[in-house]
Amino acid sequence: MAEVLGAKDLHLSYGPINAVRGVSFHLDEGETIAVIGANGAGKTTIMRGLSALIKPKSGEISFLGEPLGRRKTSDLARAGMLHIPEGRGTIGGLTVLENLRVAYDIRPNDTAFAAALEPVFNHFPRLSERSSQRAGSLSGGEQQMLALARALINPPRVLLVDEPSLGLSPVMVKEAYQALAGFQSSGMSVMLVEQNVRMALRLADRAYVLQQGEIVLEGPSDDLLSKPEVLDAYLGSHG
Ligand SMILES: Nc1ncnc2c1ncn2[C@@H]1O[C@H](COP(=O)(O)OP(=O)(O)OP(=O)(O)O)[C@@H](O)[C@H]1O
Ligand SMILES: [Mg+2]
Repeated sequence: MAEVLGAKDLHLSYGPINAVRGVSFHLDEGETIAVIGANGAGKTTIMRGLSALIKPKSGEISFLGEPLGRRKTSDLARAGMLHIPEGRGTIGGLTVLENLRVAYDIRPNDTAFAAALEPVFNHFPRLSERSSQRAGSLSGGEQQMLALARALINPPRVLLVDEPSLGLSPVMVKEAYQALAGFQSSGMSVMLVEQNVRMALRLADRAYVLQQGEIVLEGPSDDLLSKPEVLDAYLGSHG
């Protein structure tokens, strides 16, 4: 399978704080991988590095077979990378409809906006009811739906999702993961960062366990799920 996203010996830091220390991984076409780890392990930092929000101290990132180099976040978005950051990443001052319009316009395709909107509102009827409401005034769960709807209206090649279950009720967590499973079965390559270890491992093909900025364990999700005591040792709890 072709690699769509990868990192080699990646180091990321905030001034003197070395948050990510020598991490290597790959995401192949059509695959779903999870990066799991405790608070402060460096998960969000890796995602920021991948979407060029922060510059690596050293190491290499490649996207669709090419080194990331000096490419900008907006350029990566146009090339097919969608990063749903921790805390949703919707535009609070815009309405639901305007948020979807912006997502749609990033990488125009042949379908007209109205036609593209229909399956999205079928999938997330709540968003249809609230299409003229400002995103900033949606509930946390509704904002997460809107964030995922951005990936539905303009499917990216590679989707990076940072903690889709954070702050959601069990019902909403299920809905978010159903949406992700839909992306997965459509052939999208998905990289998921989670503290909700069980949910993440059930969805992902493979996973990497991050501890204090380093990958301490990796393998097929089924293998990791069958070793709860190992996960416990690295994560404190396996959820
Ligand atoms: N802007 C920043 N400036 C300085 N240090 C930072 C900054 N952002 C993160 N850090 C530090 O980098 C380390 C990794 O943080 P990161 O946000 O990547 O963790 P995480 O695995 O996503 O944690 P969580 O599960 O709590 O979201 C932490 O020690 C954190 O305090
Ligand atoms: Mg985080």
